[in-house]
Amino acid sequence: MAQHNIGIIMNGVTGRMGTNQHLIRSIVAIRNQGGVKLKNEDTIMPDPILVGRNQKKLQALANEHQINRWTTDLDEALDDSYNTIYFDAQTTVRRAESIKQAIAKGKHIYCEKPTATNLEESIELATLAKNAGVKNGVVQDKLFLPGLLKLKRLINAGFFGRMLSVRMEFGYWVFEGDWQEAQRPSWNYRKEDGGGIIVDMFAHWRYVIDHLFGHVKAVSCLGATHIPWRMDENGNKYQATADDAAYGTFELDNGVIVQANSSWAVRVNRDDLLTIQVDGTEGSAVAGLRNCKVQHRVNTPKPTWNPDIENPFDFQAQWQDVPDNQTFDNGFKVQWELFLKHVVTDEAFPWDLLEGAKGTQLSDLGLKSWEERRWIDVPEIII
Ligand SMILES: NC(=O)c1ccc[n+]([C@@H]2O[C@H](COP(=O)([O-])OP(=O)(O)OC[C@H]3O[C@@H](n4cnc5c(N)ncnc54)[C@H](O)[C@@H]3O)[C@@H](O)[C@H]2O)c1
Repeated sequence: MAQHNIGIIMNGVTGRMGTNQHLIRSIVAIRNQGGVKLKNEDTIMPDPILVGRNQKKLQALANEHQINRWTTDLDEALDDSYNTIYFDAQTTVRRAESIKQAIAKGKHIYCEKPTATNLEESIELATLAKNAGVKNGVVQDKLFLPGLLKLKRLINAGFFGRMLSVRMEFGYWVFEGDWQEAQRPSWNYRKEDGGGIIVDMFAHWRYVIDHLFGHVKAVSCLGATHIPWRMDENGNKYQATADDAAYGTFELDNGVIVQANSSWAVRVNRDDLLTIQVDGTEGSAVAGLRNCKVQHRVNTPKPTWNPDIENPFDFQAQWQDVPDNQTFDNGFKVQWELFLKHVVTDEAFPWDLLEGAKGTQLSDLGLKSWEERRWIDVPEIII
C-alpha cells in the first residue's frame, strides 16, 4: 500500500481555468479525497507547486488550499527532479514555449487546449514529446460531461440506427464590459493575444466529433466579429480583432453531417449553453451539459404544416430523459485522475498532444475556409 507522491508544476494556476477547474476542483479535490486509488491499493498523491508571475496571488492561493510549494521561477521548478509533471493553463500564446522548456527537462506534459495557436507549433510539441519519450495529455473536458457521456451511451447501444446529422449550438451573451463586466478575459477577443472563438471552440469540436460521431473529412466555416469594440479588465476600450462567432459545417467520413454554431454574441433560448442534437434513422437525442433526452422512431409525432391553426403539439413534452444510472464526477478531475494513472502505471490515455494538434488543425482550417470562402479537406496528421 505505497503512496506515490507526484510533484506537479502548475503554471497559469492563477487564471480562471487554472484556479477553478484544475487546482480547486481537480488537484485539491483529489488530495482531499486521499489521492487516486490504484488497483493494487497503492495511491497517487499529487503534490503541486504553483507557478506564476505574481508572488502575492500565488501565496494567497497556496495558503487558501493548504499548499506549501509555490514559486515565480519556472526554471527553478523545472530543475527540481521531484517535479515529474508540467501542467500548463496559461493563455494559449504562452503555452508552446513553456511546454518545450519542460520537455527539454524530461517532464511529462499535461495542458489546456488549444495546445498552441497554430498547427505547426502543435505538431512540433507532439513530435518533441514523442521523441523525448515523455507522457503527454491534453484537456478534452467536454467528453466527460454527463450529457455527452449519456450521448455516448446511446451511440454504444445502437440507439440512433444510422446517424444522419448533428446540430451543435454553443454560446451565450458575453457582456461588452461597458455597462456590465465581461464574464470572460479580454484576451479572448484579441487575435494578437491568441483569442477568437474558432481557435477556442474548434479545438473542442474536433475531439467531440471524432470521439462520438465519426472522423472529420472536410470543413466549411464562416466567422464573424459581431461586437467590434469591448472594454477590458481595466475599463479601457479596445478593438475586438478576433472572431466572436463561427458558423461551421463538418463532413464526416461515415456520411454524417455536423453543423456547429459557436457564439459569444447570442442570447440563450435552449435548454443549456451547449446543446447537441443527433438525428438517426431509429431515434434522436438532444444532450446538454448534464442532461440528455431522446425520442425513438415509435414515439415520433406526425406534424403537418398548417400555420392557419394553433400548433396542436407540445414538441418539448414529447421527449424522454435518459437517466443518470451512475455518479458523475467533475470532468476535469476525472481526466486528471486518468492522466496520473497513465504516468504512474502506464494505463492507457488516448488524449495526447497529437489529439491536441488535431484540434488546432481544425481551427486553422476553419479560419482558412472563412478567409478563402470555400470547403477545405482535413488531411491526416502523421508524426
Ligand atoms: N477546457 C476548457 O473548457 C477551457 C475553457 C476556457 C479556457 N480554456 C483555455 O485555458 C487557458 C487559460 O484560459 P483562462 O480563461 O483561464 O485565462 P485567464 O486569462 O483567466 O488565465 C491565464 C493565465 O495565464 C497567465 N498569464 C497570462 N499572461 C502571462 C504572461 N505574460 N506571463 C506569465 N503568465 C501569464 C495568467 O496569470 C493566468 O494565470 C487558455 O488556453 C484557454 O484557451 C479552456
